[in-house]
Parts: sequence; structure tokens; C-alpha cells
Amino acid sequence: MIKAENLHLSYKIGKKSIKVLHGLSLHIRKGEKVFLCGPSGAGKTTLMYTLAGLESPQEGSVLVNGQDIYALGQSARARFRNKNMGFIFQNYMLMPELTALENASLATAIRGTEATARVKALLERVGLGDRLDHLPNELSGGEQQRVAIARALAHDPDLIFADEPTGNLDSRNGRQILDLLFDLAQEGGKTLVIVTHDPDVAKLGDRILTIRDGVVEQES
Ligand SMILES: Nc1ncnc2c1ncn2[C@@H]1O[C@H](COP(=O)(O)OP(=O)(O)O)[C@@H](O)[C@H]1O
Ligand SMILES: [Mg+2]
Repeated sequence: MIKAENLHLSYKIGKKSIKVLHGLSLHIRKGEKVFLCGPSGAGKTTLMYTLAGLESPQEGSVLVNGQDIYALGQSARARFRNKNMGFIFQNYMLMPELTALENASLATAIRGTEATARVKALLERVGLGDRLDHLPNELSGGEQQRVAIARALAHDPDLIFADEPTGNLDSRNGRQILDLLFDLAQEGGKTLVIVTHDPDVAKLGDRILTIRDGVVEQES
């Protein structure tokens, strides 16, 4: 599903260069639930963006479903991402002026009655069937994250990326969100790549990839 080889990535700020990925390689199989783990600043978010085609490495390659994503031009890569990937973030990233239904329909700008029915069914599946017309500020954090999950799944991607999806939630709500993500991924045969700094959370997946000094330190 994802094959990354020898990724090198540095950020340059003025004359200083921060080396984040240092010859990192990994392999994630279809249907796996993998956690990218490591302390704050280890490069988890950078790695996730690099795997998703959002942050070009200076060296190395990323194959997603056999496609070398950095061999594609910018717009072809964006189309590939929109077709194959869904994203969930720590702070939900919902549009404040749009309803739950509108937000969940947003990522792919999907249109038509069939698409709307699919998004409604997803919002029902995540337990928000009676909150379709609510604005984000009328929903709890856990409920907002459920909208974000529906949005990430609306276009039925194979691959879901989540960056600290439980970071703003208490442990009970966080656990419910993870269970929901796992169930939905299982039902749809989807691959999940979840970033967390919390080793207890990371244990809940199939595999942990720990990032240290710019490489995958250990696989467990
Ligand atoms: N856009 C950027 N420009 C410069 N430095 C960055 C940028 N994004 C991240 N960094 C730096 O790269 C390192 C890794 O960051 P990040 O991938 O966000 O780590 P993590 O998600 O593990 O906390 C940090 O030292 C961070 O300050
Ligand atoms: Mg991060």
C-alpha cells in the first residue's frame, strides 16, 4: 500500500537547516492500522505529509498503490491524493460557518443526491444522524471529530491519515473515536496511518513505527 525508501527531508530556515528525515524507509500493507509514534518534534507530522504527497522529500521515493507519487506533477499528485486519501487532524479543521452535513460533504466537493445520501449515511454511522444541520460550535469536541471522520471517508478513499486525532479529547472520548475509526477501516478494508505521541494509544493498532533521529527506530 505504502512503500517509502530512503527519505531525506530538511527544513531550511535562513542559513540553518533542520534535518528531519534521515534516510527513512518503511512499508505499510493494505488494511493495516499503523501508528507513527515518537516524541514531539521527532518528525511524525512531516513523515505523514511526506507519505501523503504534501511535503516533497529532497531524496527518496514514496510509492502508494504502486504509484511513485513524487514522479507525478503537482496537479496530478493532488488528484491522486483526492481520489485515494482522506485526512483527519487533531483540531478537527471544520469550517465554522458550515453545518455538519456541509462540512462532511466538503473535502471532495462531492455533489448530487447520491453523494448527499452517502454522506448522510456516514454521519448516521458515526452517531450524528440527528445533528446534520448543527454548526461545529454546537457540537462537542468528540462530535466534531466524528464529522471530520465522515468527511475523511466521504469519497471512499483506500488510505486514511490521522494526525493526533485524539489529542484534544479526554481519554474516554479519544478511545471512542479510535474504536470508531478502526471499525470503519475494518468494514471498508481501509489502511489507517495514525500519528500519536502517546505510547498507550499506539498500542491499540496492529503495528507501531517509532521515529527517532529521522529514521524508524523500531518496529513492534
Ligand atoms: N514548515 C516547517 N519549517 C521549518 N521547520 C519545521 C517545519 N515543520 C516542522 N519543522 C520542524 O521539523 C521538526 C519535526 O516537526 P514535526 O514533523 O512537526 O514533528 P512531530 O509531528 O513529531 O512533533 C521540528 O523540529 C519542527 O520544528
Ligand atoms: Mg506533529
